[in-house]
Amino acid sequence: MSSYVYMKILESQPKRYDVGIALLSFGKSERIKRRIVNENVREGDRVLEIGVGTGTMALLAAERGARVVGFDVSPSMLRVAREKIAAGAHADRIELFELGVSGMEQFPDGSFDVVMSTLVFSELSSDERAYALSHAYRVLTCEGRLALADEVRPKNGIKRIVHASLRFPLAVLTFALTQTSTRSVEGLEEAVAGAGFRVLSAQRSVMEAFLYVVAVKECA
Ligand SMILES: C[S@@+](CC[C@H](N)C(=O)[O-])C[C@H]1O[C@@H](n2cnc3c(N)ncnc32)[C@H](O)[C@@H]1O
Repeated sequence: MSSYVYMKILESQPKRYDVGIALLSFGKSERIKRRIVNENVREGDRVLEIGVGTGTMALLAAERGARVVGFDVSPSMLRVAREKIAAGAHADRIELFELGVSGMEQFPDGSFDVVMSTLVFSELSSDERAYALSHAYRVLTCEGRLALADEVRPKNGIKRIVHASLRFPLAVLTFALTQTSTRSVEGLEEAVAGAGFRVLSAQRSVMEAFLYVVAVKECA
C-alpha cells in the first residue's frame, strides 16, 4: 500500500486517475469504496464525502439511493467527477462543491447521516485532519456514521521499518515529479476517538499500512 504515495502523480492527471489508482492498488481502491458504501450507506441517507476526487464513491452511494454532497479542493478532479456523474443515471442525487476541508463550516449541524472519505486524510496536515474530524462530528446526526479508509503508519516496529523503507524512494520520486507528496497517517483511530466518536471497527491490512475505520456519533 505504500505505492499510494504515487497518488499525487495520478492526481496531476485526473483523466487517468481512475485507471491509475485501480492498477496501483490492484483493484483495492474500488473494493474499499464499495465496502464503505455497502456497509454504511442506506437508501435515503444524506451523505457527505470529503475529498470526492473523481466521484467514484459518490456515484456508488447515489446508486444505493443516498443523496450525496461531495467536496474537493481540486477543480480538475471535480471536472472528471462531473463528467462521470452527468453520464450516469443519478446526477440529481449528487451535489459537488469546490472546497477545501477548511470550508466545512458551511455545512449545517446534524445535516448528514454518513460522512465518508478515502485516501484524503493522508494528504492533509494534522491540523486539517483534526479540523475535518471535528466538523464531521458536528455535521452528523446522532447515530450518524463516519467511514474512513487511508494509508496509515504501521504500529508494529518491523512492519513500520519495512513500510518506511519501501515508501521513501517512492515519496522522493513523487516529490521530484509533482513537488508534493502524501503522508501515511499516524494515530488516525485515536484522532477519530479524540473528535468525540466511538470507534466501531478499525481494520488494518496485513502489512498494517492501510486502515478502514468506522465510527459513530453517539449523543447523550
Ligand atoms: C488520492 S485522491 C482521493 C480521491 C478519492 N477520494 C478516491 O479515493 O479516489 C485525494 C483527493 O483529496 C483531495 N484533497 C486534498 N487535500 C484536500 C483538502 N484540503 N480539502 C479537500 N480535498 C482535498 C485531492 O484534491 C484529491 O482529489
